[in-house]
Amino acid sequence: MADIDRGALLRRVDLLAGLDRVALARLAAFLEPVHVRNGERVCAQDEPGDSMFLVVQGSFAVFARRDGADVRVAQLGPGDSFGEMALLTDEPRAATVRAEGDGEVMRLERERFLRLVDGDPKVGRAISVTLAHRLQGMLRADGGVAQRAHRTPPEPVVPPARSVTRTRAVRVGALLIAGALAAVAILATTAPAERFALFVAAALLLWMTDAVPVFITALALLASWVMSGVADPAAALAGFGSSSWVFVVSVLGLAATISRSGLLLRVGIVLVKRLPADLRWQIAALLGTGILLTPLLPLQMARAALLSPLALSVAEALRLRERGPGSAAIGLAAWIGAGPMVFLFLNGSTGVLLMWALLPAESRARFDWITWLVSAAPLGALCIAGALVLLVLGTRGERATAPTAGRLDLQLAILGRPSSAELALVGIVVLTVAGWMFGEPLGLDPGIVALLGFIAAALATRFDGKALASLDWGYLVFYGAILGLVGVSHTLGIDTVMGELIGGSLARLGITGPAFVLAVAVTTGVARTFLQADQIGLLLPLALIPAAPAAGVDPWLVIIAVLAMISFWAVPAVSPEYLVVHSSSEGRLFTHAQARRLALAYAAIVLAALLLVTPYWRTLGLL
Ligand code: CMP
Repeated sequence: MADIDRGALLRRVDLLAGLDRVALARLAAFLEPVHVRNGERVCAQDEPGDSMFLVVQGSFAVFARRDGADVRVAQLGPGDSFGEMALLTDEPRAATVRAEGDGEVMRLERERFLRLVDGDPKVGRAISVTLAHRLQGMLRADGGVAQRAHRTPPEPVVPPARSVTRTRAVRVGALLIAGALAAVAILATTAPAERFALFVAAALLLWMTDAVPVFITALALLASWVMSGVADPAAALAGFGSSSWVFVVSVLGLAATISRSGLLLRVGIVLVKRLPADLRWQIAALLGTGILLTPLLPLQMARAALLSPLALSVAEALRLRERGPGSAAIGLAAWIGAGPMVFLFLNGSTGVLLMWALLPAESRARFDWITWLVSAAPLGALCIAGALVLLVLGTRGERATAPTAGRLDLQLAILGRPSSAELALVGIVVLTVAGWMFGEPLGLDPGIVALLGFIAAALATRFDGKALASLDWGYLVFYGAILGLVGVSHTLGIDTVMGELIGGSLARLGITGPAFVLAVAVTTGVARTFLQADQIGLLLPLALIPAAPAAGVDPWLVIIAVLAMISFWAVPAVSPEYLVVHSSSEGRLFTHAQARRLALAYAAIVLAALLLVTPYWRTLGLL
């Protein structure tokens, strides 16, 4: 059956007709080929359903039970799909589907199918058309369907009442306290610095509790400063006019063009395919791919979602046992590459960009993309080496079987030859990075370099208004407000006061220099067991950056120490990025227990690496 062009066939499937080649290639990572013998059942009436099927080859008959006898109601061939009804309605299978002659189907798991339906209106429409045709056919045949159509619909799934009430109580509580803080700020204070601090405290509370969308809090904060005379509109809104904001918009835009082009997917697949079947190489390749993708796709969640099916394909191609030591090492290599190494790049994730915005202006100007990379590289090298040793030891000598890389080939076949847009993007990315490296002496601002890169990429990939609208504008509004917050707090002298307060007391305790950096990392790790990364990424830098000078440490090191530990994933519930890797590999690569053991060992490596890098940072004048 190897002669079948599965790529061409997938493109012909009605259900998938609305997907572009990149979306289809991504989906192909989740399609599992199943060979079916003559007369074998693929699904049986009245049994629960956990997946749907696309017919690749052969003929399949659909039987429905009518008055105790199986009646043949339809015949399906290549390009047809079945098994979607039980997934959509949450009811048992409506019919039995049986192979007539040997055949092959591709199985798509329920969760992936539902995500596909939710993600693309065209898929929903294709399903409706198929179902409508079926209904027409059955209505003509007899009235049997009418009975089925009148069944009571399934009960909607309602989350347990207690947790809903509790979340609502937290929200209402947060809003009330924030309101009270704002009222105190307006009625009981006159000093701008005090007012500002109270408004910020109220905003932090709302950000931490997710009481309202983050951008609403951000906008309300800006309005509160202007209306209460803390800052004039120009100062409050300065973030949106800054090069830093333009930089972030452009970097996210550039990333979106790259991600939609299929370039990243192709790079990952080719890398994994070309390497020897040896586990150590594959671990290194997945880790390396993740790190290479980091500056190109600065969204940790997106990298995780991209790499984990790739890791699953690799583990399957190498015939590793599910959740065995080898599979776990492969899956966790993808995770470490996608997540915990963010600190290496200034545009490693929106979280890194946020912390960069929180730096005092002088520091921000000093740490451009290149200086950042150069200063962070030794720490990165130590963490990578440590992670590799841990992962390879973790395989406990499990060996891989020679790969049957069918799935990777299928994905490549669907992607087709590199498009001109993909090739253009390679050039644009190289030029943009070169612009960041060498642009400064020519007077080229990094924000403007990024903007030029984005403009070129948007032209090359026909990035339209709709695509632009899909950027995370809520986050970008929040980002602009945070830049304003840093500026206004500096003008009011709040950073100095905070620094003296926290930094002074730490200095009295003797926590300065490298000890301070370590303390920041440990605090981050501990906080990470009950707070999410974006919460910590705002709180800790806001509190600790002003304290850095008194501790004899450059503020940048506070950020690096936080970032090096911020992906700590020992508690899955507060690590959505890690959960994406776990769930988009269908939980088949590793268990949470395996991941937790590695998380703890990796944290120890980060702490050791932070200490070892101290002399290097001293020579750079950061300590
Ligand atoms: P499901 O109920 O999940 O499992 C059996 C599948 O058979 C069903 O989804 C449909 O995909 C398919 N099926 C049921 N009735 C018909 C029909 N009349 N014509 C074609 N396919 C059908």
